[in-house]
Amino acid sequence: MIQAHKLAAFGQLSTGVAHEINNPLAIINEEAGWLQDLLAKEESRDFTYCGEFTESLRTIIKQTHRCGDITGKLLRFAENMDSYIREVDLNELLDEVVGILEKDAALRSIVIERDFDTDLSRMHSDSAQLRQLALNLVNNALDAVERDGKVVVGTRSKGADWVVITVKDDGYGISTDHLHRVFEPFFTTKPPGKGAGLGLSICYGIATKLGGVITVDSAVAKGATFTVTLPLRAPGQEMIG
Ligand SMILES: Nc1ncnc2c1ncn2[C@@H]1O[C@H](COP(=O)(O)OP(=O)(O)O)[C@@H](O)[C@H]1O
Ligand SMILES: [Mg+2]
Repeated sequence: MIQAHKLAAFGQLSTGVAHEINNPLAIINEEAGWLQDLLAKEESRDFTYCGEFTESLRTIIKQTHRCGDITGKLLRFAENMDSYIREVDLNELLDEVVGILEKDAALRSIVIERDFDTDLSRMHSDSAQLRQLALNLVNNALDAVERDGKVVVGTRSKGADWVVITVKDDGYGISTDHLHRVFEPFFTTKPPGKGAGLGLSICYGIATKLGGVITVDSAVAKGATFTVTLPLRAPGQEMIG
């Protein structure tokens, strides 16, 4: 689970960095090309260092292309890592996730209830990402309950094209001033070593990527409900090879 967390965080980070670096890289390439054009002009012929300059610019351009290869690889890596759109049985997937966590929960007298809509249509989505999303939400719910309580994982359909996943707990809840910050990367109220504050930002990223939205409803000591609304068909990621 930690590994999956790290990979997802790394994917997001590398995509961000690759995009950020690509822009200045394109400008460096552009400007170096422009200088090459200037040096190739008639008026530049008698410039003493013309040869050295031209040679140097060639190296600069070659190296920017090398950087471009690296950022391209990073982007493709992140892409491959998280866009496998297949048919998914959401109830079965959530049942598995609950199955993984419920033994540990039972040791803390926490019951995880399944409240599944058995008529749910099959989705076309990314099961690995959905699993990650559910794991993060249920883990947070278990943390919030601490012991003696209940977590309910539910599904239902919404209209003809959407499904809704809810993860509801009766734990310590979220204060109003924290409520709008919980999806921020690195926001955590947990002690060091317990929480990295990445879980919900990853959930947010996944929900968005799969064409959906994630919202939260909570108050202090009133528990929390996370609601993820997703399209039955995740948008245009049918895989490019
Ligand atoms: N079910 C929940 N009940 C109460 N607080 C929650 C719940 N889920 C998330 N939070 C709050 O949001 C913060 C961020 O969650 P998350 O991004 O998963 O990071 P982490 O779990 O590592 O702290 C948590 O530290 C906690 O304060
Ligand atoms: Mg968490």
